[in-house]
Amino acid sequence: MTIGVIGLGYVGLITAVGFASLGNKVIGVDVEKAKIDKINRSEPPIYENGLKEKLKEVNPNLTATTDMSALKNCEIIFICVGTPSRKDGSIDLSYVKKSAEDISEIIRKSDAYRVIVVKSTVVPGTTESLIPILEKSGKKLGKDFGLAMTPEFLREGSALEDFFNPDRIVIGAYDDKSKEAVSKLFKGFGQNKFYTKLKTAEMIKYASNSFLATKISFINEIGNVCKKLDIDTYEVAKGMGMDKRIGREFLNCGIGFGGSCFPKDVRALIAKAEELDEDPKLLKEVMALNDRQPLKKVNLLKKHIPDLKGKTIGVLGLAFKADTDDIRESRAIPIVDALLREGAIIKAHDPQAEENFRKLFPQIAYSSPEEVLNSDAVLILTNWKSFENLNYKGKLVLDGRRVLKAKEADKYEGICW
Ligand code: UGA
Repeated sequence: MTIGVIGLGYVGLITAVGFASLGNKVIGVDVEKAKIDKINRSEPPIYENGLKEKLKEVNPNLTATTDMSALKNCEIIFICVGTPSRKDGSIDLSYVKKSAEDISEIIRKSDAYRVIVVKSTVVPGTTESLIPILEKSGKKLGKDFGLAMTPEFLREGSALEDFFNPDRIVIGAYDDKSKEAVSKLFKGFGQNKFYTKLKTAEMIKYASNSFLATKISFINEIGNVCKKLDIDTYEVAKGMGMDKRIGREFLNCGIGFGGSCFPKDVRALIAKAEELDEDPKLLKEVMALNDRQPLKKVNLLKKHIPDLKGKTIGVLGLAFKADTDDIRESRAIPIVDALLREGAIIKAHDPQAEENFRKLFPQIAYSSPEEVLNSDAVLILTNWKSFENLNYKGKLVLDGRRVLKAKEADKYEGICW
């Protein structure tokens, strides 16, 4: 099939590369010229496991451009543009609406039937709200073009693996014709497809991310209590996870969740609920606990070093999680910020995220992991595998992510264990 992808951020790029790898012709469109050039040179614009090799492999099937009219012959057009948070937590849908306007121009000029598929994370009702924009083309939904919504469930760091081996594919479709076109595209993906309405598909994405975020805040709350009782929360999580109804995944306690998805999506769902006159107290507390959790780490440090002024603090890990260079909503940000306010001198290391972190914090030193270990205290904020190979002997280490090797330190304490 010939597929168009609008927006080559995380979701768009993996979608484009994934479908190109399955033998489709894919045209990706983005406004950022530098990103387009990189993709066409098979250079990944983001750090992601296996992406470099995959981009080379799919090169003949994937073209990137800034020219929207290149999508005119596409049978399926994915909207994968960003939906950033507004100040009040609600999401900004202006890029999604602009994409619909651009697509409307494309369908105006052609009589070929095609299906528009929203993949951006959007609050329930958004895809339906694009219908009048698309019909400005003079064409009729259902007859001249189709509409669908397929949320994405990729994790950064294992995005390609998740693309090819999804737990489920949720397909929200306007009508049977749209549904058939989209299922044809996913035909190699086995039986795990779930067909539903447009707005149900949108809600499945928000409810899934909010549930996982809730699981993390829940185990962090249990972890804060365990810490005071001298109980290892990881053992508690293991015991809980043996119950199939609970499951062990996403019960890793620590300094909380970050990234471009959980915080933004939970806030957006809260804003949507409030717009509907609901008061989602549980979700609000999930976020509030997540805001408090990194500061617990600073308090733990002050238990060992009450006055941080002039003390050198080593920070291992800046990315919001391992295997990415992404620092969006990383729990390292409030921690470094608080340490600087206390007058500490910071030496930091991250295998991939230093360049991004430097843009926010140019005033701290970026050093090798060995140099970072040479500090008055060391804080572990991301569980990179390489941190399991460092020599922590003789150090004071406060672990926020459970790096087992660090237990060999002279003094070792976990945030919730
Ligand atoms: C998340 C979801 O896991 C994906 O399914 C979803 O598609 C994606 O958001 C999205 O909406 O695009 P991602 O943000 O890449 O994926 O990262 P996760 O692996 O889910 O981790 C999120 C944060 O939670 C990280 O800061 C991680 O350290 C933290 N976390 C995760 C915990 O603190 N404990 C855990 O047990 C698991």
